[in-house]
Amino acid sequence: MSWALHPLSEEQSEVQKLAREFAAAEIAPHAAAWDQDAHFEPSLVTKLGELGFLGMMLPEEYEGLGVDTGTYLIALEEIAAADASAAVLMSVHNSLPTQMILRYGSDEQKDRFLKKMARGELLGAFALSEPDAGSDASALATQAVKDGETWVLNGTKSWVTNGNTAGVVLVMARTDKPDARRGGRGIGAFIVTPDLPGYNIGKKEDKMGLRASPTVQLTFDNMRVPAANLLGDPTQGFVYAMQSLDNGRLGIAAQAIGIARAALEHSVAYAGERKQFGHAIKEFEGIQFKLADMATRIAGSRALLHAAAAAKDRGESVRQFSSMAKLMASETAMWVTTQAVQIFGGYGYVKEYPVERLFRDAKVTEIYEGTSEIQRIVIARALYGQS
Ligand code: CAA
Repeated sequence: MSWALHPLSEEQSEVQKLAREFAAAEIAPHAAAWDQDAHFEPSLVTKLGELGFLGMMLPEEYEGLGVDTGTYLIALEEIAAADASAAVLMSVHNSLPTQMILRYGSDEQKDRFLKKMARGELLGAFALSEPDAGSDASALATQAVKDGETWVLNGTKSWVTNGNTAGVVLVMARTDKPDARRGGRGIGAFIVTPDLPGYNIGKKEDKMGLRASPTVQLTFDNMRVPAANLLGDPTQGFVYAMQSLDNGRLGIAAQAIGIARAALEHSVAYAGERKQFGHAIKEFEGIQFKLADMATRIAGSRALLHAAAAAKDRGESVRQFSSMAKLMASETAMWVTTQAVQIFGGYGYVKEYPVERLFRDAKVTEIYEGTSEIQRIVIARALYGQS
């Protein structure tokens, strides 16, 4: 079955094949066990780095593959179809910290970090949310105070994907005075490494899904960050983070499509094998209509995602289109996996079959990198010409 509406370039076909073969050999056979044990597999980072999948959109001078956004998303969908946890590792790393450093970093910062990130020697993470600042991200309270040639950071970050394994974390912290809260404007972005005294890894979340992807709290206790690690303008870190989330949301949309596609493929196979009332259940219209709707919603989500990616690569702003792509793909993933569980019936509800994991993994795509409600706010604001 062909999945893409748009013709793939030679490079895209090659990357898709590479990702599909790698996922089938190295990820899919372990995904259920990693999920059950909440096991993060460190060798995955090394192997993804060797493939070039941790520097997909970085230019060749930083040892990246230098592919366009659409090609990156094709690879991500393949990895997600095998294991959504592996996909979020790759999505966060490629879309957020590497792109932030590439776009806003000094030449010295790029030289210091990007090659190692592309090779998988430094896994990246992104620390914006806090216990009391989730959807309202610009209410963050982590404070950065300049002291000579260092910034002293205090605060707690939550929901940090890759947080306990990362070698480099992009941390958003308030650089204005604590009593001078100015929304998004007084926030800086800092390149933080775990060797800095005062960097502490806090509790690891026990999650419903994406169990093989560690999500942790980070606390900073008088952590001294060299001034050379400040990214760009000390007052623009929130804007950098928001622009990076435009990329990140495309990645999460690809992840959601991968999850949904896996659920559809399992459902098509199961409906062909499972017999009730003397017939394979695929012969019943009730099942056929579900499968047809699942396939249609996936195709629509993928078409929107790749149209948004192409617009991004033309240099256009994709703020509302990346929100639309994430909204549609994540709600598709949740809906499709719900139908898959229903098609499998009782077998869909147990861990022996794969759709139960897909159902749990799908849910977070409606929550992280901006909830569906936040995506709707971004889209609605654009309709009124607001930022
Ligand atoms: N691109 C460029 N600039 C942007 C922007 C974008 N996409 N979005 C906002 N900005 C700019 C605005 O123009 C504004 O700039 P000025 O101050 O110069 O005017 C500034 O940023 C502040 O913007 P807003 O006034 O719109 O800010 P707000 O407080 O109203 O918040 C929001 C807007 C859309 C609700 C935003 O807070 C948001 O996206 N919230 C969700 C946060 C989120 O997605 N968190 C996910 C964290 S990562 C994660 O999930 C963990 C993980 O590891 C996977």
